[in-house]
Amino acid sequence: MSDTDTLIEVRQVTRRFAESTAIKEVSFDVYRGELLTVVGSSGCGKSTLARMMAGLDSPTSGEISIDGKVIDGPSPDRGMVFQKYTLFPWLTVVKNVMFALTVQGQGRRSAESEAMQWVEMIGLSDFAHRYPHELSGGMQQRVAIARSLAARPKVLLMDEPFGALDAQTRQKMQHHLLTICEHVDITVVFITHDLDEAIFLADRVLVLKPNPGEIQDIVNVSLPKPRCIDLQFSHAFVELRTKLASMIHHADEEEDLPMHMLTMKHA
Ligand SMILES: Nc1ncnc2c1ncn2[C@@H]1O[C@H](COP(=O)(O)OP(=O)(O)OP(=O)(O)O)[C@@H](O)[C@H]1O
Ligand SMILES: [Mg+2]
Repeated sequence: MSDTDTLIEVRQVTRRFAESTAIKEVSFDVYRGELLTVVGSSGCGKSTLARMMAGLDSPTSGEISIDGKVIDGPSPDRGMVFQKYTLFPWLTVVKNVMFALTVQGQGRRSAESEAMQWVEMIGLSDFAHRYPHELSGGMQQRVAIARSLAARPKVLLMDEPFGALDAQTRQKMQHHLLTICEHVDITVVFITHDLDEAIFLADRVLVLKPNPGEIQDIVNVSLPKPRCIDLQFSHAFVELRTKLASMIHHADEEEDLPMHMLTMKHA
């Protein structure tokens, strides 16, 4: 791909905390319109990376830019969906989505009709006037995605958004997300623990290794689209899964080495 296809540039980004270096000298590009998934073992810096891309946290050194402009705080350019459901409990489904529009100055009437279109797109027209507590987790997360997308961000950052859902709902949500991506001009960075999910959704998978969080590899997923669930049984899918699992396993083994040495020393 040429440089003009690059939307986000992550350049030599390091994030140190008092006790640890969460991310060390990480550089990569996110291409316009792609869905990049990020995997790696727990604590390898995935959320830290997402928070910096969202502008909720800043690199200790290095920089992240979007469309050539260095990120220095949150912006409507970037929507964020977390594992925890973050809807406003006192607003109905349609009003939650409307909020993203009225806060940007859109008039009430047009905001409401646009919000209804989003609610329809996520298949929740019948629930438009219900409150979040009346919805299942999967439904709430669909509303959170619609609310983020309604603000027309360039990028949607998703940190384990389906992590709290049961396997079946999770699969449906993956389908919903891919369908939405077909219809909306959006670039997605999607963090997950689940390798099947990472491959199923991705154009590319970025693999992080822990302590400190560094890029292990970026793997292209050239499986055909639209993706259907049966794809997970295909040879190419299984091969890719094995490759990623082995990468993450080996990165964890390397990380464990000092512990083994410590144990040996004390034995
Ligand atoms: N605010 C903070 N203060 C101190 N250390 C932090 C902070 N946020 C993250 N860390 C540390 O940075 C490292 C990476 O954390 P991060 O939450 O980014 O990992 P993760 O890959 O998202 O993990 P998980 O898969 O469990 O969500 C960890 O060692 C964590 O303890
Ligand atoms: Mg995390």
